[in-house]
Amino acid sequence: MISQNTIDSVFETARVEEVIGDFVNLKRAGSNFKGLSPFSDERSPSFMVSPAKGIWKDFSTGKGGNSVKFLMEHSQFTYPEAIRYLAKKYNIEIEETEQSEAEKANTDIRESMYLVSEFAAKYFQDVLVNSEEGKAIGLSYFKERGFTNETIKKFNLGYSPETWDALTKEALGKGYKLEFLESTGLTIPREDRPFDRFKGRVMFPIQSMSGRVLGFGGRILTNDKKAAKYLNSPESDIYHKSKVLYGIYHAKQSIAKQNNCYLVEGYTDVIQFSQAGIENVVASSGTALTPDQIRLINRLTRNITVLFDGDAAGLRASIRGIDLILEEGMNVRVCSFPDGEDPDSFARKNSHDDLVAYLENNSKDFIQFKASILMGEAKNDPIKKADLIRDMVTSISKIPDRIQREVYIQECARIMEISEQVLTSTLAQLIQKDIAEASKKQKQEQRPFEVHRNQPPQAGTFSGGDPEDPRNGPPDDYPGDPGFYPQEQSQKVDILYGFERKVIEILLLYGNVVENFEDVFLKADEEGNVKEVSEKREYKVFQKIYLSLQEDEIQLSNVLFQNIYNNIINFYNQNETFSLDKYLMHLEPDFAQEVTNILMEDERLTVHNWEGQNIFPKHKSETIEQNVSETIFSLRWYLVSGIIAELKNSLMTDPQEDNSEVLSMVIDYSKLLNNFSRKLGRVVVPYH
Ligand code: CTP
Ligand code: MN
Repeated sequence: MISQNTIDSVFETARVEEVIGDFVNLKRAGSNFKGLSPFSDERSPSFMVSPAKGIWKDFSTGKGGNSVKFLMEHSQFTYPEAIRYLAKKYNIEIEETEQSEAEKANTDIRESMYLVSEFAAKYFQDVLVNSEEGKAIGLSYFKERGFTNETIKKFNLGYSPETWDALTKEALGKGYKLEFLESTGLTIPREDRPFDRFKGRVMFPIQSMSGRVLGFGGRILTNDKKAAKYLNSPESDIYHKSKVLYGIYHAKQSIAKQNNCYLVEGYTDVIQFSQAGIENVVASSGTALTPDQIRLINRLTRNITVLFDGDAAGLRASIRGIDLILEEGMNVRVCSFPDGEDPDSFARKNSHDDLVAYLENNSKDFIQFKASILMGEAKNDPIKKADLIRDMVTSISKIPDRIQREVYIQECARIMEISEQVLTSTLAQLIQKDIAEASKKQKQEQRPFEVHRNQPPQAGTFSGGDPEDPRNGPPDDYPGDPGFYPQEQSQKVDILYGFERKVIEILLLYGNVVENFEDVFLKADEEGNVKEVSEKREYKVFQKIYLSLQEDEIQLSNVLFQNIYNNIINFYNQNETFSLDKYLMHLEPDFAQEVTNILMEDERLTVHNWEGQNIFPKHKSETIEQNVSETIFSLRWYLVSGIIAELKNSLMTDPQEDNSEVLSMVIDYSKLLNNFSRKLGRVVVPYH
């Protein structure tokens, strides 16, 4: 465990613009910095960094947070990994504390597996460069393949001796448990004599996004036709083949910078490219590409270039991977190599400049690519040609973005010499199926209480892109932020969401401000008559909000907001001198996105320059006291009007002999509602 002291000094030292500046090209924009979003493929910058607040906000995807959250989003770090990274960057010594027993039990197994894997990687490396056998067999093999010492070191390449239990023995001697040697697959269990899996192979450690060793690939050195050329670690608690990409640790920074990722098949392809100076390259390691792997890349860039071996064996099968990439909304280009060459051999034979030029000149979009490899056989065969066209349109139908689909349809029509109309109607048919499924799903997820701003309330169709296409609806993480889809004039506003969000905003901005609030309470006068009196009293804003919500026993309906709310209130209670800076420093990753959404509201206006378009009329706010009171009353009013609607509804749908109790509740609540309306100083029409 990293000590709280270390975490505090990391937060105090790290400058958000410096941390992000390592990955994103930032330009000053007033008191902020602006850049192109590393999370989407955009042309005009909508990624904002606020050094003053210590936070960032990506308006193209809605993500946001502090430095740590950036590293977690961008580099897939866990929280402790992000802290360690920052500590290293700023030369802060990491102080470790003892773990509790419960924490230990939780992390022990996986951690032990990581540790033994890391030990094995070091051992194989050591054997490779220091032992006679390693040098003579392993090192000379790598040298023959053209790998430099530097490359061998960078990729932690190693050699596993030609002895049946070399690693197992060494590890056990060093105190590593057999249990973990076996669960990582390094050792193959056998009652009398457990033995090494990778005996006599050169070793390629497979690292996670953050550089931890998860497993290994081991290549045989003989030409034994019976033995597998590569042997890999089995699936385990730390190694999931389908979620790992070989080389991602070394490639991630370059992928983000170049805004493109080369995808190859083999370990040696990655290594040879990297040595040739092209570092944004990862391998699926012989398995078919999986959606999880694509998403790993998607975090870093929207662009993938798939590189195929020249021998074209299994090319058709590999092409399926392309549809998967398209489905994730990413842009795919494809490049194949001359006959008999793979990326490894080609990179070795050519200079850096020639390699770059080759990739540039031979990368095609997937339509051109499919046409070029399949056209040969289909040219004079109308049936095959029709199949090919259907194949292309199927790929196009996977693309979530309508405009992009349109562009590809045009491209396909041109290349295949067929009318766009026919393609469009085929496309429509294909999409129809997806829509039926997607809309079924969407219906189940529809949110209640949705209305359009500036428009009469209206049952929920989402107004984004093509209204017919549910895939253009809100993304899964649609935060309910009215500005999320800036292009739309009529925006959906979830009223309750709006009020609850306002509560959070006020807590963040003015929680510690002392204001005079009107307190209403019952008081008996001299004659014993109970009267409602009001009095002004001083409260801190956060106290007033807390007491008011507690009085009504209001829980925020949005679970995330309720959690943030609890978190902020706790923070205020524990810190006499609350400052927003301090809160943001320790901002929990789970809350980061929503909190930054709220705090960067103003910046959104500058990013998109919408002020001029007057889409978001800003009420020049009243006093803080008014702001707080109004929000609380609005929230209470809203909840109460919901209760009334429910009661009325039950009267209609489930009439009872004796309605009097329900009716009197309706009357009571209506009085309360009127009371709120009066307090709000206006007549409000219930939305329900
Ligand atoms: N692979 C595997 N098991 C095998 C063969 C291949 O896991 N029996 C994986 C490895 O990750 C390998 C990739 O598939 O890197 C590509 O296989 P291949 O093209 O046959 O190997 P190369 O990378 O070209 O290997 P080399 O150049 O060392 O022969
Ligand atoms: Mn090869």
